[in-house]
Amino acid sequence: MSAPREHWGSRLGFIMAAAGSAVGLGNIWKFPYMTGENGGGAFLVIYLGCIVVFGLSLVMAELLVGRTAQRNPVAAFRHVAGSGWPAVGAMGIVTAFVILSFYVVVAGWTIAYMLFTLNGSLANPDATALDAVFTHLVADAWQPIVYAAIFTALTAAVVIGGVGSGIERASKLLMPLLLVILVALVARSVTLPGAEQGLAFFLVPDFSKVTGATFTAAIGQAFFSLSLGMGAMLTYGSYMPRERNLPADALAVVSLDTLIAVMAGVMVLPAMFAAGMTPGEGGAGTTFKVLPAVFDAMPGGTLFGFGFFLLLAVAALTSSVSLLETVVCYFVDEHRVTRTKATVISAIAVFVLSIPAALSSGLLAGMTIFGMTFFGLMDYLSSSIMLPLGGLLTAICVGWVVGPRAIDALTNEGRITASWAPLWLFILRFVAPLGIGWILMQGLIG
Ligand code: TRP
Repeated sequence: MSAPREHWGSRLGFIMAAAGSAVGLGNIWKFPYMTGENGGGAFLVIYLGCIVVFGLSLVMAELLVGRTAQRNPVAAFRHVAGSGWPAVGAMGIVTAFVILSFYVVVAGWTIAYMLFTLNGSLANPDATALDAVFTHLVADAWQPIVYAAIFTALTAAVVIGGVGSGIERASKLLMPLLLVILVALVARSVTLPGAEQGLAFFLVPDFSKVTGATFTAAIGQAFFSLSLGMGAMLTYGSYMPRERNLPADALAVVSLDTLIAVMAGVMVLPAMFAAGMTPGEGGAGTTFKVLPAVFDAMPGGTLFGFGFFLLLAVAALTSSVSLLETVVCYFVDEHRVTRTKATVISAIAVFVLSIPAALSSGLLAGMTIFGMTFFGLMDYLSSSIMLPLGGLLTAICVGWVVGPRAIDALTNEGRITASWAPLWLFILRFVAPLGIGWILMQGLIG
């Protein structure tokens, strides 16, 4: 048998690492523009509903399967539920590659923007000029690929370093720093002239804009942001010692992730209105096009800008590490390859997949599948289909196959009092399968 499993050094170490996985581009790059495109406040309300009802329950379920089995997703599902179920873990491994293919591209943009803050590219804070900077970058034939490659290499380097030394140490130090910068940017953004309209758009729901597509977008975003539905949380749970208070840790991670997404919304949307842009207009470039004008309006703006993109790149790194770690953990556990070899081979595969994603706004912009670019398709497939499907199957697995025993495991055989545990099981058994199933159908037929 294998050596005893490496464990997180401390409770804080685990929370920081899991929050490091959850908090990333999903919160700061994706959430604001998704909210902009899907009607503002109404999207926020539905998103928060998805977090509370499905997100929290499923974070607990995934962590629990990992902690119980102390194994990678494929072996963990076999351990807790028997034959057939490892397919859910296997689907997660595939999903990790799909997400990484575009994730490293966006992370590459943040590296480019670190340089842009220093070399004066963002000196003209006019909306048209900032739009041009972004378009120029993403349409280039080489830059997006090179930056994606650099980021993929960084991810691989951290994963080779191992769980305790690499991931945990970086997260503990940099997450609090990111929070501090966010607070400063939020304060500046909401006080820009014209910002109130943006705040109202974000915080006052207008439910007349809600369609089935709003629900699909919200649940996909909730899963993406919480790193749910593909075994990343499960893998992190597998490094968790058994005696830990799992529900408390899950709540901390979900709260932090949600807090940072909401802060990013308050940072980006008011600044967008202040710049005279209409919500939905900026697309995947929104955060990059809007924030430089906020830096410009701050004392020490260059420093804030550089610090922001640096920390965003680091937040993206702790997330991409969790995606790659899930894949590597599987190959190391199940196929007896060394960690280094598994990491290098997976990273090369990620890089190859990232090339068409990196070129999706340039050379390959005209190449569409189902009306989407490669980048758009990978994003859609993972967030709107694979992650919710993975979550639905995890809910059924824990709710029905593990069943009431899951409550014993969750509460450390009753040593933690959790009067809400039957409600949790009820959500996993009925609410999540029906709710997520309904939303998945909306996405597929709508
Ligand atoms: N949650 C991360 C973000 O918001 C991205 C991420 C990391 C992820 N691991 C994941 C998404 C696993 C889905 C599944 O940026």
